[in-house]
Amino acid sequence: MTQHWSKTSWQKFTALQQPNWPDKNEFTETVQTISKLPPLVFAGEIRTLKKQLALAAEGNAFLLQGGDCAEEFSMCTAPSIRELLKVILQMAVIMSYAGGKPVIKVGRMAGQYAKPRSADTEMINGVELPSYRGDMVNAIEPTPEARRPDPQRMLKGYHLACATMNILRAFTMGGYASLERVHSWNNEFVGRSPQGQLYDKLARQIDQAINFMRIVGIDTDIPQLNQASFFTSHEALLLGYEQALTRQDSTSGDWYDCSAHMLWIGERTRQIDGAHVEFFRGVHNPIGVKIGPNHDIDDVKKLVSILNPDNEPGRLTLITRFGAKKINNGLPNLAREMKKEGFKLVWSCDPMHGNTYTAECGHKTRNFDEIMSEIRSFFEIHWSEGTVPGGVHFEMTGDNVTECTGGGRKILDHHLAQNYLTNCDPRLNAEQSLELAFQIAELMREK
Ligand code: PEP
Ligand code: CO
Repeated sequence: MTQHWSKTSWQKFTALQQPNWPDKNEFTETVQTISKLPPLVFAGEIRTLKKQLALAAEGNAFLLQGGDCAEEFSMCTAPSIRELLKVILQMAVIMSYAGGKPVIKVGRMAGQYAKPRSADTEMINGVELPSYRGDMVNAIEPTPEARRPDPQRMLKGYHLACATMNILRAFTMGGYASLERVHSWNNEFVGRSPQGQLYDKLARQIDQAINFMRIVGIDTDIPQLNQASFFTSHEALLLGYEQALTRQDSTSGDWYDCSAHMLWIGERTRQIDGAHVEFFRGVHNPIGVKIGPNHDIDDVKKLVSILNPDNEPGRLTLITRFGAKKINNGLPNLAREMKKEGFKLVWSCDPMHGNTYTAECGHKTRNFDEIMSEIRSFFEIHWSEGTVPGGVHFEMTGDNVTECTGGGRKILDHHLAQNYLTNCDPRLNAEQSLELAFQIAELMREK
């Protein structure tokens, strides 16, 4: 018999990757404060996303999930949010127009503020300090004060997630994301690049199609053209924060984690007897789970059964992150075994986290060709196993950063220092993101 679930039942299980909050009372009080504040999203929106993901499970839609590795409080500004949104919209237009499928747009945004780390502490200039765990926990500056986990940061994170959500809703619903403005999403920097010009050409074709609709008398003042549906997601790491935003839907009586539409469980916190899995088995959001090359196949089977006991399509997305060199060894068997079990899954490819390396200059980076190679293998393996390549998951930004090598501008290791801004993992810049979208669209069209 399944054990009783409540939004606090995770507390009886081991929760990995939680900060060591110095003041436990302050932590509990902050969770209580957040639990009285309004939810960030509504159950109805979450159900809409789940229905769309159910289409992706069958190959009739494609998931595009992307954003920063870690959002930073100081980057919660309209221009920064708008630039990232624009690139995601551009990628979605490329992939749906050239790839021929509806694209479900999900940002790693409005709450991606907590990070798992490989160690609790790190040595900086001979001093042992708590690791930086994301702006919702502590600050990046290497001082004992800055690194002290502070529950007030959870509250600040909630407010900044609200502000982000608010401007995202304004941009996507208020005309900015209208397909009639598809040209204007090209930023100045990208506009001059070959990718930008290719994008311009595609935008002109869309303009012509909309104009043609108008000429033949079709009303183009419709939400399908002048609004974009956009969803939010983050790694659900800080269970106190997630618990505080978990609410019971008055129409269905079901529980939803209203901190975002979709949440995912990271590679480091997906233990079948752990607190994260306990928490997420009880909420009705679409859930993602990261799966890396060291997974145990029986564990993954158990995990899928626990998180999706009714085998509901759209509920569960397996986000594989093997790395270009390991995917051919690991994914075929995983896909085959899941298919044998009859599991209804969205298969998504995170080609970022298995391809990180440290360049000689000391910067952590990822190479464009390796990222693309993992994506290509992901498609080919699913085609040959008879499973469906249903989505992609990126760390990316709208800024003109030099964090990942390669791509049209041929960023080399020694260029990384030019504009390396991330506090965490290296992100694709806007131009690299568009280039990937064009190549993915080709793969989407192949089958
Ligand atoms: C991430 O998505 O930023 C992350 C930490 O990924 P993973 O859990 O796959 O390592
Ligand atoms: Co990351």
